[in-house]
Amino acid sequence: MRAGSSSNPTRVGANRLVQLLGHWAGGDGPLYRQLADRIGELVADGSLRSREVLPAERALAAALAVSRGTIVRAYDELASQRAVSRIQGSGTAVSGRSVGVRGRSEQFVGERLWMNGDASVDLLKANPSMLPEVAQLVADVDLAAHTRDLDGTEPLGWWRLRERIADLHTRQGLPTTPHQILVTSGAQQGISLVVTAMARPGDVVLGEEITWPGLIDMVAHVGARFEPVCVDRNGLVLDDLESKIERYRPALMAFNPQHQNPTGSRLPPDRVAVIADLIRRYRIPTLEDRVAVDLGFDRRHLPAFDEYDTGGYGLIAGSVSKVVWPGLRLGWLRADAQVINRLRSHKAVADVFTPAISQILGLTALERYDELVGLRLGQLRPAADLVLDTLRNDLSDWTHAPIRGGLSAWVGLPGQASASAFVQHAGRHGVLIASGRQFTSRAADCSNIRIPFTADAATLHEGLRRIVDAWRTFGHHPVAAGVI
Ligand SMILES: Cc1ncc(COP(=O)(O)O)c(C=O)c1O
Repeated sequence: MRAGSSSNPTRVGANRLVQLLGHWAGGDGPLYRQLADRIGELVADGSLRSREVLPAERALAAALAVSRGTIVRAYDELASQRAVSRIQGSGTAVSGRSVGVRGRSEQFVGERLWMNGDASVDLLKANPSMLPEVAQLVADVDLAAHTRDLDGTEPLGWWRLRERIADLHTRQGLPTTPHQILVTSGAQQGISLVVTAMARPGDVVLGEEITWPGLIDMVAHVGARFEPVCVDRNGLVLDDLESKIERYRPALMAFNPQHQNPTGSRLPPDRVAVIADLIRRYRIPTLEDRVAVDLGFDRRHLPAFDEYDTGGYGLIAGSVSKVVWPGLRLGWLRADAQVINRLRSHKAVADVFTPAISQILGLTALERYDELVGLRLGQLRPAADLVLDTLRNDLSDWTHAPIRGGLSAWVGLPGQASASAFVQHAGRHGVLIASGRQFTSRAADCSNIRIPFTADAATLHEGLRRIVDAWRTFGHHPVAAGVI
């Protein structure tokens, strides 16, 4: 049966609509009208399709932390524009005709992280800001000296860069040859290549229950199933991991164990060793995402699974995004040389090879890597202190995980307050933040939010002030099972 011809129109869940709405309440005029306008846009661009039934008023009001009256008036406004029809007993259905080519059929967990809110302080993204030394490095690079290299078209990447990345791993305690390196367009492409190559539709991929949405969404994208493994304040819980390996026999495992995004946890070396043993015994390809591994404030070495014997089943995704610049789109995969060779065709299909200019700049940056790590930490540490001071002085009833490095703080709202509702409320106070919902495959609300400390000092200061303001006026919206 073709989409749209079913006699049972699909329902859009409150949480789904919140995702699609993005930052809807930053403009002028009454809230109901801003909401109606934004829903109208979603109908017009095909994100909401004809005959889809909008969430019940009460559920949407809870999810957006507004009164039910606001939703009723917004729906009435849309009905008067004939964009929706109110059908007694069945709810509010989209009636407008979409001009989009096709509606968005996929639901992306991380979608909200990429939204824009021009009038707001953006604390959604955890992108490190540009270091002046990196801007200078980009300005100074002598492309003419690399003319021959600029013509290189090897999908695995430029040999000199592969040597340099291998050397970085070797210096950090993991002997590596250039044959074990594939240059990617950021760590995200490394994740995409591995998931595409190793997980087929219906396969299970294990990952942390709270993790980087670029992984969760990629697993869904290939039709595989993401199964969450429990974490505690130090990361993966070993018993749960082993029982899920036994139960699901996953095609792939993918973890982000060190300075985890978003929880900031660090997996202790004894757990790393046990997991390496599980990887080897069960022979499960396992991708370790180490993008933030060098951002420890104490500069402690945080071992990789592959520093133990994983039997050749370990893979690492790395990049210069966090230390140097995400705009370079320069990352890599490290794995057994045979595995790297098998991934070569996947890379060629994805984008032929990583732009030569990124590779040349990446090599230049990696030649000064240790210095740049020092500069980046010098920028992040005071910013983390600013967040800690605010938590201590102005939000003392909030809890937070220890901040030992990385790019963000993972905080808990008191009294089971709904993080989804709070981020909506904060949005209306002019600050965009991500709730725990953006980092989990489970369609459940929670009481956690992520506060990145990557913005410049003035922006961070203003963003924190708005968060504090928003908290003062936040009504009691507890996490409500089933509403979201
Ligand atoms: C845990 C994690 N993995 C991967 C990525 C993507 O990194 P890249 O910019 O190198 O693609 C990010 C970016 O924020 C991340 O936090």
